[in-house]
Amino acid sequence: MLLVFSFLLILAIFLALSIRRQKPVASWKEKLNLDKHFAVYHTLYKDVNGFALSRLERKGTDSFEFTYGEIKFYPFIALLSLCRPDSSTIFYDLGSGTGKAVIACALVFNVQKSCGIEIFPRLHACAQRQQQRLKHFPNYCEKSANIEFKNADFLQSHFKDASIVFVNATAFFGDHWLVMSQHMEQVKPGARVITTSKAVRSNRFQLLKTTQVEMSWGVVRAYIQERLPLE
Ligand SMILES: C[S@@+](CC[C@H](N)C(=O)[O-])C[C@H]1O[C@@H](n2cnc3c(N)ncnc32)[C@H](O)[C@@H]1O
Repeated sequence: MLLVFSFLLILAIFLALSIRRQKPVASWKEKLNLDKHFAVYHTLYKDVNGFALSRLERKGTDSFEFTYGEIKFYPFIALLSLCRPDSSTIFYDLGSGTGKAVIACALVFNVQKSCGIEIFPRLHACAQRQQQRLKHFPNYCEKSANIEFKNADFLQSHFKDASIVFVNATAFFGDHWLVMSQHMEQVKPGARVITTSKAVRSNRFQLLKTTQVEMSWGVVRAYIQERLPLE
């Protein structure tokens, strides 16, 4: 009898604790209307295969930095939330693939602009197609108008107007990452840069936070850094 009572007590405590833990997540999801936005995102991307498009592009010109991988909607929004995007935010994804991060950002936050720069034409065209499709969802036309995709090399591009920059940088290494880090110094003081797997290698940024985030290939470290004032 005592054994059964102890078991039920432990079970009740366990349930109470897990409900308490889920509450903040549920209210966060509700506040940002995440399930509604995810339904739109899922409709846009359910038949899109960025990995296959990237493979086609890499035939003959492959290199580590072209390795493909993608964000996952909820973990990415949780990560982006740490930078508190608002109506003055200009968001950039450097190496935007099929546009998942750019579109997720525009769906959830009322940002001024959500932009992606992608080197491979097939991936870029795919991102643009999803932006066009988004126009036809009731109440999402305006959000679609705030999205911009550019087919270009981000190392040759300006993004000085950015207030939040995301780089899914797990496959960027060595000198390439150093060059990229220097290129990111163009953002204005106070701008935030979110990177995966490694921090920006520049003393013009200060580290604000590290966390973990789930990507299509697993859980990685994420770094949030802020551009320091001009010296
Ligand atoms: C790991 S994928 C990330 C895709 C997307 N940002 C996401 O997180 O869902 C990296 C992307 O960067 C692109 N890329 C690599 N080097 C680039 C460059 N120099 N300029 C523009 N895009 C580049 C690749 O083609 C690829 O689509």
